[in-house]
Amino acid sequence: MRTINEVQQAIRSLKAQTGVCILAHSYQSPEILEIADITGDSYKLSAAAGQTDAEKLLVCGVRFMAETAGLLNPEKQVYEANPAAGCPMAEQFSPEEILAEKAKYPGCAVVAYVNTTAAVKAVSDVCVTSSSAVQIVRNMPQQEILFIPDCNLGAYTQKHCPGKHLHFMPGGCPHHSAITPEEAAAARKAHPDALMLVHPECRPEISAAADYVGATSGILNFARKSGHREFIIGTEISIVQHLTLECPDKRFYPLSNRLCCPDMRITSAADVLRALMQIADGSAKPLTLPAQTALKARHCLDEMLRLGG
Ligand code: 13P
Ligand code: SF4
Repeated sequence: MRTINEVQQAIRSLKAQTGVCILAHSYQSPEILEIADITGDSYKLSAAAGQTDAEKLLVCGVRFMAETAGLLNPEKQVYEANPAAGCPMAEQFSPEEILAEKAKYPGCAVVAYVNTTAAVKAVSDVCVTSSSAVQIVRNMPQQEILFIPDCNLGAYTQKHCPGKHLHFMPGGCPHHSAITPEEAAAARKAHPDALMLVHPECRPEISAAADYVGATSGILNFARKSGHREFIIGTEISIVQHLTLECPDKRFYPLSNRLCCPDMRITSAADVLRALMQIADGSAKPLTLPAQTALKARHCLDEMLRLGG
């Protein structure tokens, strides 16, 4: 059996041979983050995907992240390290359902969380990530906004954009939104000296009880820079592991052990190696999207980078 170091070594030589650039979301495992060329939250990955010179990109995360990289790089070949990894929130509403809801609010703009399919982006006006939603909604000329699909991120955005009128559909992350105020209270009781840092995909009652609310990058940076020594982490459980490795002098506790995204967890270093071997022998299938969908969805992402940059 090969050790993880040997698998990583094989990945590094295949990367050099194929010229593939590996993008990995911060929720991936440490062994994947170690061999990735670009790591970060959804916003950083989207911005970096449009800037790399590599002709082939391999995405470790979930499908909408690979789609986003493909939309921003129509001339490049984009591959998924594990095509079974999808984000359940991205598929909660169909384009038809969104258009029917939009028709209820004449003149409104549709703001789509980047955690959506390309088909949903194609019927939206602008995309946002959790780290850019407030800034982008503030910068938009429209007052009436249909914010889809995450109503928790939507409520957080509404709170910080009082001049706007946001409408919602009942969507959200099944893992972040499942965390209850009772779990948050229990974590506080167990770790009374810890600061609680949570992702805006959590319910508004959880965000209201937190010491800091922010996207993955915000949570990581807050914990790194803070003079505090203990933190309760209210986002995907991998972030507890990453921060524990990175800041051994600090203590990190999960807000709940249930805050685990199986889709983010299924990609292994062995999947990355297999994908690279298939890219090298020409048998890997790059992601494809219908041309019209891609054109309209791309506009939505360009607007995100323009208004959020
Ligand atoms: P970020 O925008 O923080 O990367 O979040 C992505 C995600 O899937 C959170 O669940
Ligand atoms: Fe989707 Fe939630 Fe998993 Fe993020 S954590 S990829 S929003 S299901």
